Amino acid sequence: MDAVVFRKVRAIDPACGLDALVDVVVEGGRITRLGPEAAKGVEGERVWEVGREGAWLLPGLVDLHAHLREPGQEYKEDIASGLAAAAAGGFTDVCAMPNTSPVNDSPAVTELMLERARTVGGPRLHPLSAITVGQRGDALCDLRAQRDAGVIAMSDDGRCVTRSDVMMSALVAARDLDIPLVQHAEDHALTAGAVMHEGAVSARLGLRGWPRVAEDVIVARDLILASYTRSRYHLAHVSTRGAVELVREAKSRGLPVTCEVTPHHLLLTDAALLGYDPLCRVNPPLREDDDVAALRAGLADGTIDCIATDHAPHSASDKGYRSEATRASKEALLAAAPGMVGLELCLPLLLELAATGALPIARVIAALTSGPAGVVGMEGRGLYEGARADLVVLDADARRTVDRGALRSKSNNTPFEGREIRGRVIVTMVGGRVVFDESARAEKNR
Ligand code: DOR
Repeated sequence: MDAVVFRKVRAIDPACGLDALVDVVVEGGRITRLGPEAAKGVEGERVWEVGREGAWLLPGLVDLHAHLREPGQEYKEDIASGLAAAAAGGFTDVCAMPNTSPVNDSPAVTELMLERARTVGGPRLHPLSAITVGQRGDALCDLRAQRDAGVIAMSDDGRCVTRSDVMMSALVAARDLDIPLVQHAEDHALTAGAVMHEGAVSARLGLRGWPRVAEDVIVARDLILASYTRSRYHLAHVSTRGAVELVREAKSRGLPVTCEVTPHHLLLTDAALLGYDPLCRVNPPLREDDDVAALRAGLADGTIDCIATDHAPHSASDKGYRSEATRASKEALLAAAPGMVGLELCLPLLLELAATGALPIARVIAALTSGPAGVVGMEGRGLYEGARADLVVLDADARRTVDRGALRSKSNNTPFEGREIRGRVIVTMVGGRVVFDESARAEKNR
């Protein structure tokens, strides 16, 4: 059988306590050998003599939260471009939110998405079902049919399930089907007309704010309901210090609750909106320094299980502007759809943050690999002999700055243009298949 060989890489998998300079051999879609000199004498169909300082091999990254816009909004992104962006970002598994058009509230949509992903042949796509029909917040979808069609979890993301009776029924369904319920925690009655976080910056700009309590009140209620039903509850894009504390307390009582944080909530505050940049408008909004500190502390101590991109592609006109020159204006900010792209910048932004000492690197890696895999129950992944060959190899020392123009996503709505980042993905492999190969791209551009 033809082997793929990686020689002399620093293999890091915090979930199995691995951080060592090794060779890795992949055969038949699995890791068959892993250890110092493990590839000695092995003839590979393809051999990566990585062997340079800073060459890391990690388990493939898992994103629990991406908006791939297909079906219905393919001008922003589609499954092919979204998965290409994911592969370039080191992701082998991408969970796709259901706020498509039509909403993914039926097996027909789930099957269409899975079929598209099969044709593309990149990273694996895992659709989520909406919780309620049309994400309208009342009647539940046929969640059993959706589970049987292949959804990995359920969420009304973009909208919150605010009605307690609906939430209770959904939690019971999640428990019976043994899939997580992913909540977008926002009391819409408290955020009507909000453009950004409510605080000193929103007051100064004269913009309506979304107060922290609009998130906290939903999380508190949900944790009470989830402790009653004993369901798997997952909080999407946690953004407030209060919500981190609520989750910490619930975990200390042994509740099966998990949560995720985005790179942008770990890196930016509402001060980024002082220039009215619509690319900084996102839901939940960028908060304040003490929220960022609480999110970093929660990630470091394991209260926060994973980092998820909330990859939310939008065109310039959806972001309220026509040209870069007129991008930052109050009118654009008021008109802008919330969200930013994340799949390609997630790992390099976080490697840079970890390099500053703000977060332990082992936690960052776990939060992008075993953490999210554990939330949705993906098994058989990690760096050990016999595991599925879902891998990413990167040059962890590479330094560069963000260039929005170079993104593979169809949209480039990121506020991180020009920011220093660290690390460059060399190879992404899904079950032994190479889905991204930097050298092939370099070859093509020559
Ligand atoms: O900023 C966001 N954008 N937050 C969401 O919850 C939805 C997302 C989108 O779909 O654009």
